[in-house]
Amino acid sequence: MKLTITEFDPTDLVLQETLFHTANGYLGVRGSFEENVPENVQTIRGCYINGFYDTIPLHYPERLCGFPEEAQRLVNLPDIQTMRLYLNNEEFSMSKGEVLQYKRELDTDKGITTREIRWKSPNGHTIDIAITRMASFTYPQLFLTTYSVASVDFEGKIELASEINCGVSNFTDSNDPRVASERIQHIFPKSAEVLGGNVIVECQTGASNLQLIICQHHKAIISKGGFNPVTCESGPVENGAVTRIKTDLVPGELLLVEKYTTMSDSRRQKHPRSYALQRLNDCINKGASALFEQQADFMEDFRHNSKIDINGCPELQDGLEFNMYQLLQSTGRDCITSVASKGISGEGYEGHYFWDTEIYIFPFFLYTQPETAKSLLQFRYNTLEGARKHAGIMGHGKGALYPWRTISGSECSSYFPAGSAQYHLTGDVAHAFMQYYYATDDLDYMAESGLEVLLETARLWIDTGNFGDDGKFHIHSVTGPDEYTCCVSDNYYTNRTAQHNLFGAAEVYKRLKASEQHKQAFAKLLDKIKFSEIELESFTRAAENMFLPYSEELGINAQDSSFLEKPIWDIASTPKDKFPLLLHYHPLYLYRFQVCKQADTVLAHFLFEDGVPENVLRNSYLYYDKITTHDSSLSGCVFGIMASRLGLSEKAYAYFADTVGGDLNNKHGNTKDGLHIANLGGSWLAVVCGFAGLRLGKDGLRFRLTLPDEWESYSFRLRYRNSLIKVTVGRQYSNFELLSGEPITVFVDGVERHVFV
Ligand code: BGC
Repeated sequence: MKLTITEFDPTDLVLQETLFHTANGYLGVRGSFEENVPENVQTIRGCYINGFYDTIPLHYPERLCGFPEEAQRLVNLPDIQTMRLYLNNEEFSMSKGEVLQYKRELDTDKGITTREIRWKSPNGHTIDIAITRMASFTYPQLFLTTYSVASVDFEGKIELASEINCGVSNFTDSNDPRVASERIQHIFPKSAEVLGGNVIVECQTGASNLQLIICQHHKAIISKGGFNPVTCESGPVENGAVTRIKTDLVPGELLLVEKYTTMSDSRRQKHPRSYALQRLNDCINKGASALFEQQADFMEDFRHNSKIDINGCPELQDGLEFNMYQLLQSTGRDCITSVASKGISGEGYEGHYFWDTEIYIFPFFLYTQPETAKSLLQFRYNTLEGARKHAGIMGHGKGALYPWRTISGSECSSYFPAGSAQYHLTGDVAHAFMQYYYATDDLDYMAESGLEVLLETARLWIDTGNFGDDGKFHIHSVTGPDEYTCCVSDNYYTNRTAQHNLFGAAEVYKRLKASEQHKQAFAKLLDKIKFSEIELESFTRAAENMFLPYSEELGINAQDSSFLEKPIWDIASTPKDKFPLLLHYHPLYLYRFQVCKQADTVLAHFLFEDGVPENVLRNSYLYYDKITTHDSSLSGCVFGIMASRLGLSEKAYAYFADTVGGDLNNKHGNTKDGLHIANLGGSWLAVVCGFAGLRLGKDGLRFRLTLPDEWESYSFRLRYRNSLIKVTVGRQYSNFELLSGEPITVFVDGVERHVFV
């Protein structure tokens, strides 16, 4: 798809910086303009590396036991985007002179963004500028810009000044708890030098002492028979370095500059300097056009595995393609990073990883790029030690409790009622491991990493909950996904994830115990974590007796044991400008009402439907639909999926359309702070798990196919085990096609179907 803008509106720039950002899972550069923008135009100029953080102290006037003392924050890195253009002494700016033609485009087929401008300077000179940007998927350390200036009627001196500017800080807004509130400088230059035509800038974070190396090289080419020499001089300046490229142009001539920037950091590399330099040289040798070609090939492969076609609604089809592309741009694939809730597109939520990954984003990768899904799991495995520590801080004698928000593995949430109390995240992680296990049957991975995570997380529930006089297993003082209801007993969602975690740990344990091939790894693990089978029995006993709140009177699952006793918030009479409620009401006030920020019980019904009677699914849906504000972007897609499940097709479609356009329409009003990545994943889920009703369990893939009235047909692709299949759903037919791999069997509306051609 192409996202195209042909008119320049300065008030939209900050939003476009998010929508047009270029990222590759490792680095992300916001779509700011290369040139200066006037001071009255809002811009959040940003460049980030996934998981590259500084630590900040957390201040509490009343610090209670176990409150985290510091948090990690994604660092806004030195500005590598700036390229100022001068025609004689006139500086190019979209806000000066006249923009005669303009086109800004994101091309997801090519994996690039472009900007084309025909500009008439205040002195009446006309030039064509064409800029292409790419964060390479094949060389993740590379951010490439090509900048060309063609003279239409200008004759004279041209200069491009390209900078690395370390005088940057993070974005702050003290009125919005979803972004950082205090301005601290996080990155400091250590040195800047020019070596063999390459600029090398070394930086270090203020508190976390992480190292960042930026290398840059400019290749200048003058075309159309230009005979004038081009000079390219680089040198250090106060806050970094600048490269000045100068030449003379006459009408018909064109100056093209290829700017290669590579970055490397000490979280990934022992020797980031030599690594960044080596990558820079590799990329220069390859050349810009070969790198662009590689990117296009990469994108073709991505589409081959993940293509969705909607016949009958090109707009939503484009929206979905945009969303899938953004998922790809946002996701770490190096086992030490995950997907921040805003990806690498902005600073909202300070670059933290939440449960968003496991529940909303992971499934897309599981079914389209299982190796990326595995890397996301491995991130959790690699931070298991942090989760054990966190459990200890929270008073647990055993088990692992994953932090609510984190970058490197420790808890970064300073408001525990809507933070650390969300124990369900640990169950969400376990759920992702189980889904991976069912989808891939990768027993080796379960032996290496999966079982350890499942056992440690299962232990947490035993240590947290207790058997009551009713013989049931209860979990007290936790918060479910709905952040408008905190620190409750027996949150239905939490108890369901815990139950699944406990059963799952026992299931994988037994499978590995019986596997001759994994005997050694299995024994080693039990010894490492001192696990005995008595514990396994306690898992099964707690899971079998898990208390799941239910109201006889309403025929619904109660969100928790006191939820239904509270008065219902009058959403209809609440003024529109009071949403999201979290920005206008004290949390405690909200907690006393039946009002949900986001899907909670309804999400549990989507993920864990087994055993829930049809009328309970329906009644619960209708009940919670009325009291949910969807103030979180993680909500609508889930209501859409369950509406499809229950045959409420109009509702399903409305929720879906809203979800798909979430960021493109700036629905939550804060896309400037970054994309809502979970929501993007949710739009994929809404097609595959919503309209096509996919669920994955022990018995494999199950579908309940529906087709929205608005469409003629749709199709999507899925990887399962070692096969790639294409599912097409039409008005009176459905088709399951094997694109590669072994034949598989799926269940469609309860009937077995073999997919072999
Ligand atoms: C939601 C959380 C989510 C977080 C990050 C919050 O508004 O309530 O469920 O994890 O945003 O996306």
